[in-house]
Parts: sequence; C-alpha cells; structure tokens
Amino acid sequence: MKKFSIVIAGGGSTFTPGIVLMLLDNLDKFPIRQIKFYDNLAERQKHIADACEILLKERAPEIKFVATTDPETAFTDVDFVMAHIRVGLYAMREKDEKIPLKYGVIGQETCGPGGIAYGMRSIGGVLELVDYMEKYSPDAWMLNYSNPAAIVAEATRKLRPNSKIINICDMPVGIEERMARAIGLKSRKDMVVRYFGLNHFGWWTDIRDKEGNDLMPQIKEHVAKYGYSLPEEVEASQHTDASWMHTFAKAREVYEVDPSTLPNTYLKYYFYSQDEVAHANPNFTRANEVMAGREKHVFGECDRIAACGTAKDTTLEVDEHASYIVDLARAIAYNTHERMLLIVPNNGAIANFDETAMVEVPCIVGSNGPEPLTQGNIPRFQKGLMEQQVAVEKLVVEAWEEGSYQKLWQALTLSKIVPNARVAKQLLDDLIEANKEFWPELK
Ligand code: NAD
Ligand code: G6P
Ligand code: MN
Repeated sequence: MKKFSIVIAGGGSTFTPGIVLMLLDNLDKFPIRQIKFYDNLAERQKHIADACEILLKERAPEIKFVATTDPETAFTDVDFVMAHIRVGLYAMREKDEKIPLKYGVIGQETCGPGGIAYGMRSIGGVLELVDYMEKYSPDAWMLNYSNPAAIVAEATRKLRPNSKIINICDMPVGIEERMARAIGLKSRKDMVVRYFGLNHFGWWTDIRDKEGNDLMPQIKEHVAKYGYSLPEEVEASQHTDASWMHTFAKAREVYEVDPSTLPNTYLKYYFYSQDEVAHANPNFTRANEVMAGREKHVFGECDRIAACGTAKDTTLEVDEHASYIVDLARAIAYNTHERMLLIVPNNGAIANFDETAMVEVPCIVGSNGPEPLTQGNIPRFQKGLMEQQVAVEKLVVEAWEEGSYQKLWQALTLSKIVPNARVAKQLLDDLIEANKEFWPELK
C-alpha cells in the first residue's frame, strides 16, 4: 500500500497537534511515511514541532518528521498540502474584531469588515503556498482551510484557475454532528444531506438517513426549541467556550427566518447584526478568548511535552471532527467517491446562480477532484442574500488584484453587515492603517 507524504502549512497553528493526532488515529485508512511542518514564523512553529516530534517518535517512529521554514524543503516530495495559515496572527484577528465595533458594527473573523480585512491579508499568503506546491510537487493537492475560505476560494479560482486546490470548512460537519446527536444518531455519517450556499452562508434543504427516511422534521423540531444547542450541554457548558454556546443557541432565531431550511450558524451575523454587537465585549472579543484559551493551552502543553521529553500523559486531544480531512485526502488518493460538502466553482450546480461563484454544495470526490451535485433552483430569499454576498467577495478579490480603494469601499458598502457608505469609508481608512504591513497598496 502506498504511504503518503504530507506537509502541514501553518505548522505553528493551534490546530496542528489535534490534526497530527487525528492523522495518527487514521493510519490504517491513510498510511503516512512523512509529515512536514511549514510555517513562515520559526519561533512559533518550534513550540508545536518540538512536541509533535516527541509524540511521533513515541507513537509512530516509522514516520519521518521535518519542521522547516524553507519552502523548497517543505514542498518537495509531498502528496498533500494541508493548509491552515493565519496571515497576521491573532494580533490582527483582534483588530478585525475590534475596529468595526468602534463604529457599532460587528467584528468577526470571516464575516463583514473583519472578514474582508482578513481576506485582503490571506489571498497573498495562500497563493504563495499554491505556487510553492506547483513548483516543488506539481502532482500534489492542496486541502485548504485557511480563512476567510470564501474569499480565498474566489481568489484561487480566479488567479490560479488550474491549480489543484480544494477549499473546505468544518462548520457544516460540526453542525451535522450536533444534528445527529440531537436526534439520537451515532454519527453525522448516518445522514445524507442536500445543502447550498456560499462558505459560512448556507442552508440544508434535505437530510435523510441511509434508507432514505426524511430526518428534517425531527431536526427542525429540535432547532425550533434549542437551535443547535444540545440540552445535555447546558450543564457541561464549562467545557465549551461561552461564545460558541451562544452561537448554537442563536441558530433558533436564525432558523425562524426560513423554517423550510436549516441554516448555517454564521448567518446570525447577517440576520441579527445588532444583537451580536450588543452581545460583544469590545475589550474582549473572540480573539482574546482564543488567546487566553486554546492558544494558551496548546502552546503550554507543547512546551511541557518538550520539557519532560515525553507526550505519554498529554492533555492534547485528537481533533476527531477533523477526520473529514482524511476522508477528503482518501477520496482523492483512492478514488472513494465520498460525498462531501466542498467550496467549488458553481458551474450550474445551483441552476439560477452565477456560474462563476464559489459555492458550498455536496460533491462526489474522486481521483480527479470534486464533482458537484446539482442543487437545482434556489428560493428568492437565499438567492438575494447570496447575490449580495458573492458580489462582496468578488469585489474584495478585484480590489486586491487591482489595488483598488474604490472597489474595497464598494465591497464594504455592499456588505449586509455595514450600515452605510460613510461608515464603510471610515472603516476602510482605519483598516488600511491597521493592515499596512499586509495589504497591497490601494489607490
Ligand atoms: P494560528 O495563528 O494559531 O496559526 C496559523 C499559523 O500560520 C501561524 O503559526 C502563523 O505563523 C502561520 N502563518 C501565517 N502566515 C503564513 C504564511 N504566509 N506562510 C506560512 N505560514 C503562515 O491560527 P489558528 O487559529 O490555529 O487557525 C489557523 C487557520 O485555520 C485560520 O485561517 C483559521 O481561520 C483556519 N480555520 C479554518 C477552519 C475552516 O472551517 N475552514 C476551521 C478552523 C480553522
Ligand atoms: C469554525 C469555522 C472556521 C473558523 C472557526 C473559528 O470552525 O468553520 O472557519 O475559523 O470556527 O473558531 P475559533 O475557535 O478560532 O473562533
Ligand atoms: Mn469555516
């Protein structure tokens, strides 16, 4: 059986150890001969790499391990690039979240002005990874979950049209796991779904079990009462960050706007922007919560492992839900024809929608990549929202490409989250100042 070589780009990510543990858990399904870490920040990556090296030596000594900041070393002789970079780190995420709040506008990692600012930083970083891959391992595939995935996907579609990159998101998978638990199924894999939308902007239209029985009524009954919260979680909430608990509960109100479908959680930012502003603490946003929580825990634990020289008693956890990344790699490697939600060029999958839009729909994945499944015509409500949002995403990519101030102002003005063109301009000027190091110069 062929053994694969992979590079994790963004080796210093808080998600890297969970993904390494997940890969180790799946070696019988997806054998690995080499894991490389690549990052452009040696000091940050070192904390994670030193610990993962110990962990790999203890649990799978046959796997060769390399951590590097040199693109040639990283991208030579690899079958898959698993990419999760964050250009600008949490320091810039914090600004994406806090600058809009000064204007009473929600600040969020991937939605509205924060997502637009992050997009302007990410495009160049992700294109650079694609170019390294094509230069050093032209047969490799990139599985990219660097955010903001919608904008990054549009940039790769437009600027690297022939590259073997697939953009993915774990939110639908996470929500489907909650749906499955809510109605007493063992796993989301017992469900077959129809879904359409843009990344962080979509709806389930049909959910069935393997026998074809309709599960929507039961799931809707749960969502109408609890959103995507699970009642047993209410007591166990100390194990789940408060902001995510709020998001899962808020899905109840998002669902009410169109009870014929089930919504992605991210729609709350568009439907109830002002509630989110009211609920936000402008001095302590999600970036602060993550730095004080996940980042502190992961880096602290990695440093502890390096200091004791063993990972035997580690508290690092397998990121089990990230096994969808293995499903995707396997689908390509073994032509499994797995059905998965991916972000792909529309090309008619949504019949009454821009064929050049990057949409999130179920696809059948095989050795030559994803084949989208037709979702037919979508209703006026979702179509209207998506047309506005896809135009925002396309304007951001055009602004990046052309260095256009005007187009980025238009993108912000068009965003449903921004109240008017004047606020859009003030926000833009603040964001330009904050992102000087990262954005192309705008004229
Ligand atoms: P993080 O800051 O901990 O890790 C990102 C790493 O990328 C850092 O070590 C940083 O040095 C590195 N990096 C930044 N720019 C780079 C570049 N140009 N080249 C190489 N390395 C670079 O962030 P995190 O919270 O662990 O998240 C990582 C990424 O994964 C983010 O983009 C996040 O939004 C994304 N993510 C996406 C999904 C999804 O659903 N698509 C799910 C989870 C996380
Ligand atoms: C979900 C989304 C990702 C996003 C992440 C943020 O998983 O699908 O796209 O990056 O949430 O999580 P965080 O814990 O960093 O706020
Ligand atoms: Mn996502």
